[in-house]
Amino acid sequence: MIHFYRSTLKALLLLFVSCIAARRLPEEYYPDNFFANQQSLKINAALQKLEHVPQWVPNWPDSKIKMGQVSGVALDNSGQLLVFHRADNTWDANTFSIRNVYQAIGEPPISQPTILVFNETGVMVDSWGQNLFHMPHGITVDSESNVWVTDVALHQVFKFTPDNRTAPALVLGEKFGPLLDKHFCKPSAVAVLSSGDFFVADGYCNTRIVKYAADGTKILQWGKRLGESPFVLSVPHALSVSEDRSLLVVADRERGRVACFRTDSGAFVTAFRHWLIGPRLFSVAYSPIHGGRLYIVNGPTIGPPPVRGYVIDFSSGRLIQTFATGDSFSNPHDLVVSPDGTVYVAELDPHRVHKFVDDTLRNETKVNVTRTKPTTVEVGVAGGWEWERWGSWAGAAGSALGAACGALLLALCRARDGRKSVGRRRWEYDHSQFKLRRLLERRRFTRVHSDDSEDEPAPMLPPTV
Ligand SMILES: *[C@@H]1O[C@H](CO)[C@@H](O)[C@H](O)[C@H]1NC(C)=O
Ligand SMILES: *[C@@H]1O[C@H](CO)[C@@H](O)[C@H](O)[C@H]1NC(C)=O
Ligand SMILES: *[C@@H]1O[C@H](CO)[C@@H](O)[C@H](O)[C@H]1NC(C)=O
Ligand SMILES: *[C@@H]1O[C@H](CO)[C@@H](O)[C@H](O)[C@H]1NC(C)=O
Repeated sequence: MIHFYRSTLKALLLLFVSCIAARRLPEEYYPDNFFANQQSLKINAALQKLEHVPQWVPNWPDSKIKMGQVSGVALDNSGQLLVFHRADNTWDANTFSIRNVYQAIGEPPISQPTILVFNETGVMVDSWGQNLFHMPHGITVDSESNVWVTDVALHQVFKFTPDNRTAPALVLGEKFGPLLDKHFCKPSAVAVLSSGDFFVADGYCNTRIVKYAADGTKILQWGKRLGESPFVLSVPHALSVSEDRSLLVVADRERGRVACFRTDSGAFVTAFRHWLIGPRLFSVAYSPIHGGRLYIVNGPTIGPPPVRGYVIDFSSGRLIQTFATGDSFSNPHDLVVSPDGTVYVAELDPHRVHKFVDDTLRNETKVNVTRTKPTTVEVGVAGGWEWERWGSWAGAAGSALGAACGALLLALCRARDGRKSVGRRRWEYDHSQFKLRRLLERRRFTRVHSDDSEDEPAPMLPPTV
């Protein structure tokens, strides 16, 4: 019986999909790159409605300083920038085995300094971190000026106190030894609370967040690989802390999402995503500026969203600003924001660091830290997609057929929902129904909150899960 329903459903699903496809048949009415052009018009219109700040500072830092792939940036408590880079090492397809074991274990660690310190003018004032690391990734500085880094080849997390930059005061993880779940596996980032408790994003393979007490005792962990839940993470890539809101802010890279969890319990609080940011979000930095802002860099995809920096107003969930060097970045990997709104972006390839300043904020913070409401800019779409203009007979017939199929499917699902309530709870976990429901829910969602419409665009509210 179940099989009968399952195959009926699959057949209907196929029909439904073909109906949708039928609607899109009359492509000869449109020039070759019509859809690509529509997409870029839409993106440009959205970008134009945002404030283009903070502004890029050219020729920063000192161009004589050569670095490798820049994986992380952090600010110390005197406003100097720490750059964590890989010198001559690069992470490519041969760097790790399929079981995440580093393939150059016999090699010595990077002999050049991997941590470069720049003052605000862009002059390199210090450098250290030689003969310690193999594949640098994340870096952060806590309120006591301890420097925390992660190395994805070593699968370890290190803490350095200000008085000793050659031997770490704390090491977590098994050197070169990834053991899923038990030890770190390519840990990506650290975030430290002012209490000394800290979080590790573990990272590329374990996809979890682990919270530790200051002495390195594990307190709690969360994060799931699979399923339908706000705790599902796909490469938690960067961390930031919002102490004013008691939140840990996570860049959930491959889900294009900023996820926020309570720092005390790990409870999920909210998440942000936006079509303009796209499906890959590499780094996030929270700043209490103007009541809370999230600074974000996305990453390259095969899709059209440009690789840029974005600023989200935390309270309203709206995109308010965008920044980049020229039209887009190439491969931004991390970013950090200073108390006066200066943003530093690390790019993996080409090997660069960029500085962006927001003059209005800089002048403001010098005089008085105001908490005015930010000017929000609505990300709307001029023109829209104009599906309706496909007024051909084929289109109309396709639409009618599509609607009929949809109605039939809905009716079927309703009928099945009804049956479920009569006690067949196992339906709830039936795979095909699950997929079908998700499909329907997604369609419903796009209809109501469509970013393609000319209506009020959907702010990035928490997912309904
Ligand atoms: C940065 O260092 C250079 C060289 O020591 C110095 O001339 C410059 O004033 C410094 N900038 C800041 C903001 O301290
Ligand atoms: C750092 O600690 C190591 C190991 O305890 C020690 O050998 C080294 O001399 C220390 N360096 C400094 C600058 O204190
Ligand atoms: C901020 O201050 C600097 C100098 O202090 C000035 O040149 C600049 O125009 C000011 N910017 C704004 C937006 O007021
Ligand atoms: C800063 O501005 C706010 C609001 O305008 C005002 O209430 C506060 O007294 C100011 N603080 C200082 C130090 O000027």
